[in-house]
Amino acid sequence: MEERDRVKITDRLARPLRDLRLSVIDQCNFRCVYCMPAEVFGPNFRFLAEDQLLTVEEMALLAECFVELGVEKIRLTGGEPLLRRDLDALIERLSMIPGLRDVALTTNGIHLVKWAKRLKAAGLKRVNVSLDALDDDIFRKMNGIGVGAAPVLKGIEAALAAGLGVKVNMVVKKGWNDSQIVPMAAYFKDLGIPLRLIEFMDVGTTNGWDYSHVVTKKEMYEQINAMHPLEPVEHEYFGEVASRYRYVGTDVEVGFIASVTEAFCQSCTRARISADGKLYTCLFASKGVSLKDKLRAGAGKEELKELITAVWNRRTDRYSEERTAETAKQRPKIEMSYIGG
Ligand code: GTP
Ligand code: 5AD
Ligand code: SF4
Ligand code: SF4
Repeated sequence: MEERDRVKITDRLARPLRDLRLSVIDQCNFRCVYCMPAEVFGPNFRFLAEDQLLTVEEMALLAECFVELGVEKIRLTGGEPLLRRDLDALIERLSMIPGLRDVALTTNGIHLVKWAKRLKAAGLKRVNVSLDALDDDIFRKMNGIGVGAAPVLKGIEAALAAGLGVKVNMVVKKGWNDSQIVPMAAYFKDLGIPLRLIEFMDVGTTNGWDYSHVVTKKEMYEQINAMHPLEPVEHEYFGEVASRYRYVGTDVEVGFIASVTEAFCQSCTRARISADGKLYTCLFASKGVSLKDKLRAGAGKEELKELITAVWNRRTDRYSEERTAETAKQRPKIEMSYIGG
């Protein structure tokens, strides 16, 4: 699509719609303590049924609508997106959409060894791989299923070998993996891979979040800077979530995602679609609008675009800026595994 044919829509706070985060499945093979605690997501937990998930065709059609409304970047998430067997077919379809600049994926990395080449061939550009510790005992506790770091590191290697861009995401939970901040920074600095350290957020209602579990960006920065001096890097684009730094004397970057202590709602250009096709305008929303129902009732692209536009035009979300201990505990919220982070 020609740039001039694109409609640019904005919300009530004048924020454009630029990014789409598309959750392709709500299931995951991990049980990270901050996301899908095993006590809650046990063997009897009911995930979405196959027919509730959007099909590749449906996702591709919705993606086209979003691109025509200004979206330039699509990130595929889960749960764990590599559990979706037709993921390469989806990526292939997305890669053909004119005007879409970036198709990326967020994954726990375990299945990258078998997927990386196929994903690259389908048109994927880059992956963000979650890894919360190098120390096996610590990582086993964080991921809740007793997997050590080696399979994830192999996944990262496979992604690099396939020619995919790689970044590593580390969620830091106080008292659990904060001892790993400096070792992780050193390890990925040596490999030349950008590490992003993420403040533990109060997403969903099951992870027992409390301010006392948050290691702030400032604390993480100070720990790393003391050992490996840092200098700031300019924002790459409006709405970037990470504040980025460079290790002095290198071109290796490290980032911090400080959604708790330095909220970035003002520049939030992200729409989210859950695995069952609901549109959410904030990670912390409690209600979505079903695009799937509309689609399955026979709506075409124009009708879908009207609905998306109406939802975006009335958007006022700025949860992280408004967060208080009260909202963190009492607001109804959707789960991260369902909406994809
Ligand atoms: P890049 O395109 O590589 O910059 O990826 P990204 O950081 O946008 O996506 P990723 O899936 O790697 O997310 C990293 C962290 O940022 C996760 O913890 C997300 O939940 C968090 N995050 C992403 N977007 C938002 C957002 O809009 N609001 C909040 N509060 N957190 C977000
Ligand atoms: N706080 C911060 N980040 C989280 N993620 C999952 N749950 C949380 C949370 N409670 C991260 C994952 C992954 C990304 C999609 O979101 O580790 O990197
Ligand atoms: Fe799975 Fe990612 Fe959630 Fe961990 S953070 S449980 S890997 S979806
Ligand atoms: Fe966007 Fe909501 Fe995150 Fe703020 S809290 S940056 S509005 S998704």
